[in-house]
Amino acid sequence: MSKHHRLPATVSALAADGPHTDAAEGTLAGDVMRGLSALPKQLSSKYFYDAQGSRLFERIMRLPAYYPTRVEARLLRRHARALLAALTPTGAPMELLELGSGDGRKTLALCREWLKAGASLSYRPMDISAQALERLGQRATRQLPALSVHPLCGDYFQTWPLPQARRHQVALFLGSNLGNFTDAEANRFLRRVRAHLRPGDSLMLGLDLRKDPSTVLAAYDDPEGVTAAFNLNLLRRLNRELGMDFDLAAFRHYASYCPLQGVARSFLVSLRAQSVHSRVLGQSFGFEPGEVIYTEQSQKYERAGVEAMASQCGFALHAWFEDPELPYALVVCRAKA
Ligand code: AVI
Repeated sequence: MSKHHRLPATVSALAADGPHTDAAEGTLAGDVMRGLSALPKQLSSKYFYDAQGSRLFERIMRLPAYYPTRVEARLLRRHARALLAALTPTGAPMELLELGSGDGRKTLALCREWLKAGASLSYRPMDISAQALERLGQRATRQLPALSVHPLCGDYFQTWPLPQARRHQVALFLGSNLGNFTDAEANRFLRRVRAHLRPGDSLMLGLDLRKDPSTVLAAYDDPEGVTAAFNLNLLRRLNRELGMDFDLAAFRHYASYCPLQGVARSFLVSLRAQSVHSRVLGQSFGFEPGEVIYTEQSQKYERAGVEAMASQCGFALHAWFEDPELPYALVVCRAKA
């Protein structure tokens, strides 16, 4: 099989690593102007992933308290063969499209198992980070020279390749990245994925599930303070990119988990009355003591809710692989006619 690790010529800006989702939407300046003028103040978690934020997220994924990465990798290992059967029931050649592949470590391990099982597949990792795709290409060349890899750099929905006749498309969206969307955003995202698939094609989601609230809360409030540094780094980014003068020592990371809604939320709390100015926006923003900036939501799911959401967006839930110790699921959905 041939290998194509070349990045498209259209790649311009080198974006940072990290799980970017609807990367093309909004601009940093516009979103910050709107978000800091709103009540409560808010900033989108998609802006966490500059170079430093991506490094901090790599550290988060290795933290003992941050279970989702570990549990998802375990599920992919344990169920590799059953996943293959669920994703391509006819055994047709597979076009594996990974949305937000990053450096593709977990997926390459899965592809190795699938190739061993005799699957015919080509892998199209999609990400806005050219650097992550470059690393993925090098890793694939070293570890799996038999795999055909075609990286696509940019916005998923703009770079999505045309479906090929007789090739089953399988879209992957792992890491519980869907959970960082609001319900409306998640719906819109899934409908857009569905619009690129043909009936019978598949989508696999990695989704964190509801569990002991203290376990979830600990994942977003680790004792090492890495998640706090990750959250605060957003202010450092705004200082650099929007000429802002946030004093990072005057804000503190605060995480919460609501077991009724199944949502973990992160905030930055202003520790005193203060005013922050942006040279680029030509605007100041006032903070009361104790006032928060809402920076991230991480939805934890239940099977019935996932089934209903999938169905509303044109998918039928086909298979569900759940970790018995720490609830987390790999969900296989089929595009409905
Ligand atoms: C990328 N995303 C799914 C992570 C999450 O769990 O919501 C981001 C994260 N935020 C704090 N820790 C990890």
